[in-house]
Amino acid sequence: PIGRERFRPSIHYTAEQNWLNDPNGLLYYKGLYHLFYQYNPRGNVWGNMSWGHASSPDLVNWTERPVAIEGDVNEEIFSGSIVVDAGNTSGFGRAGTVPLVAVYTSAFTEQSAFPGVQAQSLAYSLDEGATWAKYEGNPVLNRHSRDFRDPKVFRYEGLSERYWVMVAVEAEDRTVVLYRSDDLREWSFLSSFGPANATGGVWECPDLFPLAVDGDPDRLKWVLIVNLNPGGIAGGSGGQYFVGNFDGTTFTSESTIPKDSEGSGGGQEECNWLDWGRDYYAAVSFSGVPGDKPIMIAWMNNWDYGNDIPTHPWKSAMSLPREVSLITVRGVPRLLQRAIAVVPDPDEVTLAIDHKTVDEGAESLPEECWGSVLHIEAALTPGTAREIGLIVRGGRGEGTFIGYDVETGSVFVDRRHSGDVDFHPDFASKERAPADLTGGKIRLRIYVDHSSVEVFAQDGLVTITDQIFPEPSSREIAIYATHGSGAIDSLRIYNLERTTT
Ligand code: FRU
Repeated sequence: PIGRERFRPSIHYTAEQNWLNDPNGLLYYKGLYHLFYQYNPRGNVWGNMSWGHASSPDLVNWTERPVAIEGDVNEEIFSGSIVVDAGNTSGFGRAGTVPLVAVYTSAFTEQSAFPGVQAQSLAYSLDEGATWAKYEGNPVLNRHSRDFRDPKVFRYEGLSERYWVMVAVEAEDRTVVLYRSDDLREWSFLSSFGPANATGGVWECPDLFPLAVDGDPDRLKWVLIVNLNPGGIAGGSGGQYFVGNFDGTTFTSESTIPKDSEGSGGGQEECNWLDWGRDYYAAVSFSGVPGDKPIMIAWMNNWDYGNDIPTHPWKSAMSLPREVSLITVRGVPRLLQRAIAVVPDPDEVTLAIDHKTVDEGAESLPEECWGSVLHIEAALTPGTAREIGLIVRGGRGEGTFIGYDVETGSVFVDRRHSGDVDFHPDFASKERAPADLTGGKIRLRIYVDHSSVEVFAQDGLVTITDQIFPEPSSREIAIYATHGSGAIDSLRIYNLERTTT
């Protein structure tokens, strides 16, 4: 559209200008969701790492705010988290003001007092996150390591004790390390976890939180999130999770895949993946959401090509926020994800089909439902087809294929002909996620934006998140089948553009 940057998303957060990566310090406080993030205030590629800041009353409409914590000649401000220090355990509070305390990684420069070291530091805010002061006693936790980073801190409420727990990584060792503190300033070692399951890259951005299995509060499990780069299931950076228990000291995994006697085994496919696409990294959860509702956001990009995506003057969007829960699938607790997004107004339905045969080949859907920012709900029966699915952002020889492949039993996103794929040799790709049919049907919920697709299959048991860079004019939607015919059981398309721009 004229007057609008071609790839700027409508329903995903981007900074007005410049590069961003990991979400940091996700926090709900006094009616506002805060999204801090790795940010370069001076350029459109990674560098000058600082914490950018945005806030939102509803996780949908974001307002960008001044840079929160800035790097300087001594340190870059790497990833971390924020806690509400309601009891003023840190002593940063003044005259009854509750301090927000950021725990971040100081990536010390060569000219600093700790050349090349990564250690954990504090900054605090006494004005609800608007401005931040670095603590003069930084760093507060130093292992003299070059790869100790990404602290996520939460309040642990044990039977007899309460204290702060930090999960961070020794990235090169593929290990999560846990520490405890009473005042956020002094930390003592608790335990470590890993290496385990996917170890094809450095471990980064961990998170640890409890969830009720199948919604039963008497069956609490702890979920340990571990992002890794490379070694993600789709190539490059990606996220995995472990389910188990945490007793206040040690995390015990119940989802570690045993290695066979040769030390191999533990196939990639069997790991618990947060997402099977290429653009869902550094996923972490919000602190302080009422009812401890677990909501996660990820960086919607990949370290394989992140700096090269063809967007300007901004680079990288955040994923849609996702509410997660644990459900039992074949006896094992698995993460279920639901996007928190613009809720489509039933009046915005541009297409509603129930029961329609899908013949072999591709059939364009009525033009009224075409668009660039869409919410699609589909239930499809493959029937005799080998592949059935939708083509979105179609036009002039391009299109993104989203469908089900019967032979491999998988949902896929094929972006090889999605638009501009030539800016990096690793970008053109097809992603697959294993998915079972239910009653012979595949159920898909899809969010399409100006430069991304997010697919939630089987009610969110598997997801695929991929960036795409199509022509703005590519707005066509088609339904297709190969090698046979199938059916649309139901299809609803909502145009979200009208409600958001
Ligand atoms: C993950 C990461 C973190 C680090 C940050 C630096 O994407 O590499 O480990 O803190 O980005 O920007």
